[in-house]
Amino acid sequence: MLVIVKESYDAMSKEAAKIVADRLRKKPNLVLGLATGSTPLGLYKELIRMHKEEGLDFSKVTTFNLDEYIGLPPEHDQSYHFFMWENLFKHINIDARFVHVPMGMAKDVDAFCDWYETRMKECGGVDLQILGIGANGHIAFNEPGSSLGSRTRIKTLTGTTRLDNARFFKTAEEVPKYAITMGVGTIMDAKELILLANKASKADAIKAAVEGPITAMCPASIIQLHQKAYAIVDKDASAKLTGLYNDSWESKTF
Ligand code: GLP
Repeated sequence: MLVIVKESYDAMSKEAAKIVADRLRKKPNLVLGLATGSTPLGLYKELIRMHKEEGLDFSKVTTFNLDEYIGLPPEHDQSYHFFMWENLFKHINIDARFVHVPMGMAKDVDAFCDWYETRMKECGGVDLQILGIGANGHIAFNEPGSSLGSRTRIKTLTGTTRLDNARFFKTAEEVPKYAITMGVGTIMDAKELILLANKASKADAIKAAVEGPITAMCPASIIQLHQKAYAIVDKDASAKLTGLYNDSWESKTF
């Protein structure tokens, strides 16, 4: 894993955007795995700027989002569909036919999950997956205890995750109890991973993910086994790390 520590959230976001742009320029039909949450917002803002000011072209890109709440229609302002269109897709030249976000309203969730896995394979697999991390070490909605070999499926959200995400809803009760999420195994199949984290509230999770034992109790720790994983964090999120780390991605080996 290549751990990169940046001074600020802004610098963290720009570092990640440089990697995404580099891969996209090398492969215009990149298959990009995307995440929601507050963490990747700065990355998306920078990609939008690169599209508008530098002509970064998304017309051939295919995307797969990590997860979606069960029971929220795409037009619900807290659905991950809505989030992605508001914060990225509507600002770039992406082809809507190439966008994939799990369907929280799927009638047959298991069949949908199987289709999602098949669709990723048909598209050649995810080239580069963006990840955030939950304060409890979850990635996507793979909560502690998730099988490290899991595939796309329905998961029950933990109380802490529902509380963490309650800030986006009017009341905590409104946070859905279930989600469709790519599995840990699905995420590990991506050819490259970028895990992002900022703020002191993520310092314990980053310590466990980067320097802790590989355990299902911290699903993010599995990325220690990935051949090409970046963890790009700001100073606050890196506060509990004890190793020596990098300050940029260029010309560094894993
Ligand atoms: C949710 C998402 C995760 C995300 C996490 C952290 O649970 N399913 O993909 O990484 O929140 O969110 P934030 O970036 O807002 O801290």
